[in-house]
Amino acid sequence: MSIPTQQKALLLPSKGADFTLVTIDVPKPEAGEVLVRVEAVGLNSLDYKIQELGFFVSEFPAILGCDASGVVVDIGNGVTDLGIGDKVLLEPNPGYRNAAFQQFTIIKASLTSKIPANISFDEAATLPCCLMTAAIGLYAGFVPHLLRGGASLTPFWAEGGRGKYAGQPIVIFGGATSVGQYAIQLARISGFSPIITTTSLRNAERLKSIGATHVIDRGFSQADIIAKVKEITAKPVHVVYDAVSIPETQNTGYDIIAPGGTLLVVLPAAVDQEKITSDKHFFMVLGSVHVPEYEESAAGLFRVLPELLASGQIKPNVPGYIPGGLSGITEGLEKLKRNEVSAKKLVIRPSETI
Ligand SMILES: NC(=O)c1ccc[n+]([C@@H]2O[C@H](COP(=O)([O-])OP(=O)(O)OC[C@H]3O[C@@H](n4cnc5c(N)ncnc54)[C@H](OP(=O)(O)O)[C@@H]3O)[C@@H](O)[C@H]2O)c1
Repeated sequence: MSIPTQQKALLLPSKGADFTLVTIDVPKPEAGEVLVRVEAVGLNSLDYKIQELGFFVSEFPAILGCDASGVVVDIGNGVTDLGIGDKVLLEPNPGYRNAAFQQFTIIKASLTSKIPANISFDEAATLPCCLMTAAIGLYAGFVPHLLRGGASLTPFWAEGGRGKYAGQPIVIFGGATSVGQYAIQLARISGFSPIITTTSLRNAERLKSIGATHVIDRGFSQADIIAKVKEITAKPVHVVYDAVSIPETQNTGYDIIAPGGTLLVVLPAAVDQEKITSDKHFFMVLGSVHVPEYEESAAGLFRVLPELLASGQIKPNVPGYIPGGLSGITEGLEKLKRNEVSAKKLVIRPSETI
């Protein structure tokens, strides 16, 4: 395929502005990078939070979007593991050249994972950012200059990691979120049991099918959730992954973890100051493969992911297709804002942009 010189992109002119569809140059890959024709983009609540609050990106106009799948159409010097025509999934970096809301994007070759034949582009685009947020939370360590961290568990793809946590309980708040669905599946491969999660009960069967052993109605009071966890397991809970991270769930999670254990949250800390003790670890996760300290781990997971997807050991979230290409993003983000999306990842296809 010949590569066009220009492409459509959805530009955010400034913090708080509306997105605008524009025509810009197709970027060129530098050494170690590949150019990907974006076939599907997953939408995240981060996208509208950046639009509204202007954080995470340092310059405007900006292009956003941190979940994509597509086809490699050009490679930079020194890229040996990927070739033109390879189908890949990637976690783009909101900013401009490396972001997802455009028809072509640039990524480091080592930060892609090949898509196996049983996975569609739409399904693949549900994975990168939320899978990495789950993985970084469970397996990465603390990065002092960012004040972000993880539980430092042995990754299941490292020697001795698979099944290492057999017989140890884990609690995952918000099992139906994309982050929660991937945290459940990673916890299962790491051996955790029981895997206890909170969700609307309509999603219970789906979550059990991917590894949750016990599902608690998210409508229960926080006290009832704590009581239910104690009924399910008498063992100390050393890892709680809060994929919801509103103040109630953070505080409940903190109450559940045993001394020495770790609470992982995905939004800014909201645990009541007066209950914080030095014997419980508590980290906000930053699920970006573009943090240099996380690159090696991300590449490790991306190397084993094709086999995990091909064999069904990791299942993508269910894609919720939105028509209109890049122009459908605004409607999708409005749905996310109104909390109208349950156990799905909204996806658009940039090639459908008119
Ligand atoms: N820190 C980071 O790097 C990072 C990265 C990615 C995402 N995030 C954040 O992580 C959170 C999850 O993102 P996502 O994209 O995975 O979410 P999502 O898929 O859009 O989440 C939607 C789900 O949230 C569930 N939910 C809402 N309130 C709940 C509650 N009180 N208890 C249990 N479940 C609840 C709903 O479950 P039911 O349908 O079962 O009701 C719904 O299915 C967001 O706040 C996002 O901004 C942070």
